[in-house]
Amino acid sequence: VVIARADSTAVRLPPVAAPGPALARRVEGLESTAIRNILALLASEEVIHFGGGIPAAEAFDVSGFRDAFQAVLDPHDGSGRRALQYGLVEGDVALREAIAERVGRRGIEATAADVFVTSGSQQALDLICAACIDEGDVILVERPSYLAGLQRFALAQADVVSVPCDEEGIDPDALEDAVRRRSPKLVYLVPTFQNPTGSTLPLERRRAVARLAERYGFWVVEDDPYGELRFRGDPVPALSGYAPAHAVYLSSFSKTIAPGLRVGWMVAPAGLLDVARVVKQSKDIHTSAVAQAAIAHYLAAGRLDGHVRYLCDVYRERQEAMSALLAELLPDGARWTEPDGGMFVWVELPEGWMAQQLLDAAIPRGVAFVPGQPFFADTVSEETLRLSYSNHAPGRIREGLARLAGAFEAVVGGARA
Ligand SMILES: Cc1ncc(COP(=O)(O)O)c(C=O)c1O
Repeated sequence: VVIARADSTAVRLPPVAAPGPALARRVEGLESTAIRNILALLASEEVIHFGGGIPAAEAFDVSGFRDAFQAVLDPHDGSGRRALQYGLVEGDVALREAIAERVGRRGIEATAADVFVTSGSQQALDLICAACIDEGDVILVERPSYLAGLQRFALAQADVVSVPCDEEGIDPDALEDAVRRRSPKLVYLVPTFQNPTGSTLPLERRRAVARLAERYGFWVVEDDPYGELRFRGDPVPALSGYAPAHAVYLSSFSKTIAPGLRVGWMVAPAGLLDVARVVKQSKDIHTSAVAQAAIAHYLAAGRLDGHVRYLCDVYRERQEAMSALLAELLPDGARWTEPDGGMFVWVELPEGWMAQQLLDAAIPRGVAFVPGQPFFADTVSEETLRLSYSNHAPGRIREGLARLAGAFEAVVGGARA
């Protein structure tokens, strides 16, 4: 039986040798995620959790989507029947055309034929693993990296190796060094408003990574669910546009519209998409046709751009509320990120602090966050943690951080006692 405990960040699944029919060897040692455990434990109004990268539900355009679904389910013009029917594996043509236009704004030249709709960008990661990764293949990732990506790579039985990053993201020299030593099949990056750090890779580094992909012949997977959520500064073009034959670009409507729709996409070379088509057919045949049709309608009605501008205002205000308090909350010597978009702040506490110990003190005080541990593919930094500001209004952020201040005091007091 799997039991989530308040004091654990990762709960082991039952061992394969448990009584009963055996499980696959590749799930041996798989761990459920810290985030899921924390969210499950704290799905309570009482707790202010800065845990998941959860969009602000009060900002969802519910009435816009009611209109969109109503329009596509019109019983009189046949569109409703089309939207409820099986569709193409690679996705609705009108939606793919609209996505091609959108990725063009991020600097990627694409037509509908280059776009492949997935059930969230998480499924794109799944398809890429199925299509490209054999057991033992090396995947290089940022240190730290997106934890559900790491989980998928573990399931693929890849050898996942992290590459050092600074406040601007991955260091191309360190990447080249790792590429020479480890000959990766794939490099996985979240270059814009990274999860978990919030950092954004500068243009020159993007070009350098693209050159490495072309020179050494690896796949570079650019995961970009947050790129449109820029609330400060100038946009930086997607990395994929600089190495189109080696890049797979992933994004999603989860953060700009709503994650419950489960619609994302990838843009990749034709050979990879041909394989992805066969793989996806065996997984779920296609992404919900009615959700795709509603999004296509919403985009054609020109509603997304204004909505994204509104979301950026909402998230800017929240990030500023959090940032304003971190300097007084965090102990001397702590470092934290100041993202220009996205949802996350990454905190590095001074040496000797343990994020897990802080969480143990935070939970009884009605506040939670994610300790950094599950974001590391190999060597872990125990003193790191991720805070997400996206899901709480500024007043609640201030209250949550005041509670967290109590947890810091308790840990310091406990150490003194
Ligand atoms: C970096 C990254 N990639 C992928 C995803 C998955 O998003 P989706 O809802 O599109 O599957 C997330 C969600 O948090 C994410 O942060």
